[in-house]
Amino acid sequence: MINVAIMGHGVVGSGVAEILIDHADRIEKAVREKVNVKYILDLRDFEGLSYSDKFIKDFEVILNDDDIKVVAEVMGGINPAYDFVKRCLLRGKSVATSNKELVAAKGAELIKIAQENNVNFLFEASVGGGIPILRPMAQCLCANEITQISGILNGTTNYILNKMIVDNMDFSTALSLAQKKGYAEKDPTADIEGHDACRKICILAAMAFGKHVYPEWVYTEGITDITLDDAEYADNFGYVIKLIGHTEKLENGKITASVRPTLVGRNCLLSGVDGVFNAVMVTGDQTGDVIFYGKGAGKKATASAVAADMVDCIKHLNSRKYLFWEDGDELFIEKNYDKSGRFYVCIKSDDYDSLLEQYKSVFSSQKTDCIKNEYRREIAFITDCDRESSIRKKLSGLRNCEYKLLHTML
Ligand code: HSE
Repeated sequence: MINVAIMGHGVVGSGVAEILIDHADRIEKAVREKVNVKYILDLRDFEGLSYSDKFIKDFEVILNDDDIKVVAEVMGGINPAYDFVKRCLLRGKSVATSNKELVAAKGAELIKIAQENNVNFLFEASVGGGIPILRPMAQCLCANEITQISGILNGTTNYILNKMIVDNMDFSTALSLAQKKGYAEKDPTADIEGHDACRKICILAAMAFGKHVYPEWVYTEGITDITLDDAEYADNFGYVIKLIGHTEKLENGKITASVRPTLVGRNCLLSGVDGVFNAVMVTGDQTGDVIFYGKGAGKKATASAVAADMVDCIKHLNSRKYLFWEDGDELFIEKNYDKSGRFYVCIKSDDYDSLLEQYKSVFSSQKTDCIKNEYRREIAFITDCDRESSIRKKLSGLRNCEYKLLHTML
């Protein structure tokens, strides 16, 4: 029998406990040994559960119990998770976590500590919830040079955008529904401002390109400025608006990474990814595009990935899984990447006549039709192919006018 502990009994933690306890036979079959949840760490009281006797409030109990070989960290946030995980690894305990904030901030350091102590630090659940993505990238795609990754990496925002567009629901009602379903972070600004997706693209970029990418190096824009009108204009132009995390290896050897609302062409498979579902498109030089798709948030899907990592840790108690990247280097990131392509632009001014005139003179060569909305005093269009900097230069020259520019992908 092998003893394990779970740190945290929130949405994901309770899911992990339920899988390990209620589906103990399934886990035993996978491990070929009985797995016993000895402790569950949480400061709150949980009475009336079939496993209420397992709760403890003192982390030192787990740390000092040499019977505990594998620990799940599902508390979320950096503190005290970082301290607890680090000390577990240093004491020779493997750790499985769903904590993307922790991995994006401290991944390189914790991976190194795990290596030095001959234990494993696994975090499949930190990207894409229940979707297997990190292990397939490290193992099945290892014969490839990864050239780029694009994905819908946040279930909450995808759910909100979908509800707004399909059901005409307002932003805050859609957000409360996502919270009720257990998709959103404790502080949902991490979802809607793009920080959660940013942490996930950092982890994917580190996996793909071998160096830690810190969130503060990544251009991050959330969905709070997206209006129902933008969604309608996009629809008219043949696109759907999605929050896309993107990373790419550039010709100069550096990489670019970003999170931004993006117009995705209806022919692109990512355009059909709705609700809480996530999808990650990985491009390898041998495979071409490979897509990973599934539930990106929620108790059961995320707990499934944590439980599988715990099983993997148990199966590899005396060996190391190859999952490694070096510490990061800011110079590795191209921060001023000037994308070339077509962009969605919406210009707006109280002086609608002047707006029309300026649009005609500045964008006279536009090949696609624009949408003129006199009521909202705005004009939306998809630009011809050009550099982003050149379009922004034209837009900033417009008088008494606000503008919004979004990237597109086909
Ligand atoms: N808040 C996250 C999301 C949870 O909505 O995707 C899963 O990481």
